[in-house]
Amino acid sequence: MKARDVQLIVVDDEDAAARRVAELLAESSREGKEIVLTGGRTPGLAYEVAAELEPDWSRAGVWWGDERCVPPDDELSNFGLARRTLFDRLEAQPGRVHRIRGEDHPAVAAASYERELKGTTLDLLLLGLGPDGHVASLFPNAPGLAETERLAIPAEPKLEPFVERVTLTPPALRAARRIVFLVTGDEKAQAVANALAGRPDPAVPGSLIRSESGETLATMCSRSIALSN
Ligand code: 6PG
Repeated sequence: MKARDVQLIVVDDEDAAARRVAELLAESSREGKEIVLTGGRTPGLAYEVAAELEPDWSRAGVWWGDERCVPPDDELSNFGLARRTLFDRLEAQPGRVHRIRGEDHPAVAAASYERELKGTTLDLLLLGLGPDGHVASLFPNAPGLAETERLAIPAEPKLEPFVERVTLTPPALRAARRIVFLVTGDEKAQAVANALAGRPDPAVPGSLIRSESGETLATMCSRSIALSN
């Protein structure tokens, strides 16, 4: 597969992918960087390993690329995922935690997150990739993909779980210095090909997201590129 403006890191299995991402997270935490976490099923293992590699996150700032509109202790919460798999395993908590308030009305939560984010440079942005090519909560052909001003907006889900979302917008995502996609699973092979090698297309939101001024990496299992060419 010939990736477009993305450096591919292809590893053998899910454990190895998690470890590569955990190393980036731990290094960024140590350096006091602004780190953006993602949700979904894939990143939990990377968060657990990151906590082992660096148990002191007191220098780091932590943000989220998107959140499901549920309270923080709900099992669907992306903040909750980070708490269970990362924060609860640390010796020192992150110095700055910028949670998206999923328990609030989505428009209110998006506006207050945007105010908090304005003026901050995000150093490391972790992104999953949905089987439909979505990233954060930017789903195929969503109106938010055309956003040019706002940094965070409410969004409708197009896949499970069907709860409202708050998501960073393309300009906010692209402004991150280093974007890292973490993708595992052979069911994502077509999405990987479309998002990382295909031309920019709103039907595949991942294809629209590359770091504007830094670098974009993708850590993935060899199985996830099996169908690509
Ligand atoms: C979310 C996400 C979302 C996720 C992808 C991949 O809140 O659901 O942030 O963009 O990264 O859907 O999710 P999986 O890892 O579960 O495949």
